[in-house]
Amino acid sequence: MEVVLSGIRPTGNLHLGNYFGAVRNFIKMQEENSCYFFIADYHSLTTHPTPADLHGNIRNVLAEFLATGLDPEKATLYVQSDLPETAELYLLLNMNAYIGELERCTSFKEKIRKHPENVNAGLLTYPTLMAADILLHRAHKVPVGKDQEQHLEMTRTFARRFNRMYNIEFFPEPQAYNFGEELVKVPGLDGSGKMGKSESEGNAIFLVDSPEIIRKKVMRAVSDAGPTEEGQAKTEAVENLFSLLKIMSKPETLAFFEDEYLNCRIRYGDLKKQLAEDIILFTSPIRERILEIRDDNEYLRKVTKMGAEKARESASKTIKEIREIIGISSF
Ligand code: TYM
Repeated sequence: MEVVLSGIRPTGNLHLGNYFGAVRNFIKMQEENSCYFFIADYHSLTTHPTPADLHGNIRNVLAEFLATGLDPEKATLYVQSDLPETAELYLLLNMNAYIGELERCTSFKEKIRKHPENVNAGLLTYPTLMAADILLHRAHKVPVGKDQEQHLEMTRTFARRFNRMYNIEFFPEPQAYNFGEELVKVPGLDGSGKMGKSESEGNAIFLVDSPEIIRKKVMRAVSDAGPTEEGQAKTEAVENLFSLLKIMSKPETLAFFEDEYLNCRIRYGDLKKQLAEDIILFTSPIRERILEIRDDNEYLRKVTKMGAEKARESASKTIKEIREIIGISSF
């Protein structure tokens, strides 16, 4: 049986990008694999959240995991910091992670460009922490969105380096994975780039958003003045709206608006109205479950306790073997 693993940072509520890039795959994969899905709270410390925000967001993401259909009886659902073994493997991997390769990482370069006031060591070694998560359970497949591809490439480098250094086939080389498709990038509503929680206000639609908020956000999405010639290429903003329609709506809805665009008859207001209703149809049942689960402390405690126990079994076994391989064994 293959080991599947993935994580999400608790930096806010889950949005459609998280869902279609990652969580949708978790739900499918939990049926037939040995799955580990976790909340990456150590990772989120690079941006210095307040303790109250961090704790609240761990609760939100956990409730959202459960509300989307992740089943704690099928998959191991846990909080990263409940596994101190993660920190040990992170330390060990850092000994063979080179500054040059870490500095070249696209997400690091992006972060220091956006936040020059907070270039911390955790940010630089973010890929080693992520590799520690993955290698701790010797995972084969890692369902993630397109933005995580390079981190997976680095994880494979660290795994190969360890295997070569100790002359042992210990770590498998994990692959970024999307169930039966290419890796996905869900666009946002602000006319450029991906949907993300740290992008501009209104760019992301969260699973927990109410129908009114969804309508408001979608109606305000960036578009353009409309095509004037038949077959005119789409601007990025309009391309993004069509990509969302492709993900959220029926094929015939997409075909209808494609045709309208082609013939220069398109009314973006109509497209947005339809898109908003299709999103609401999808998110409403999930939203209801989130609101039910979110305040059920006893259930959340039970799930995290069970997840931590199962995850630690696998993690402590790997760490014990690694310690022996590298020469930290007892007399
Ligand atoms: P994070 O929290 O930024 O995002 C969680 C997951 O959601 C995906 N995602 C998207 N996919 C498609 N389109 C989008 N607009 C979009 N926005 C987010 C991300 O690709 C990701 O799969 N470093 C990771 C968390 C992590 C992790 C790991 C993942 C820590 N350790 C080990 C896998 C394995 C992160 O920051 O994800």
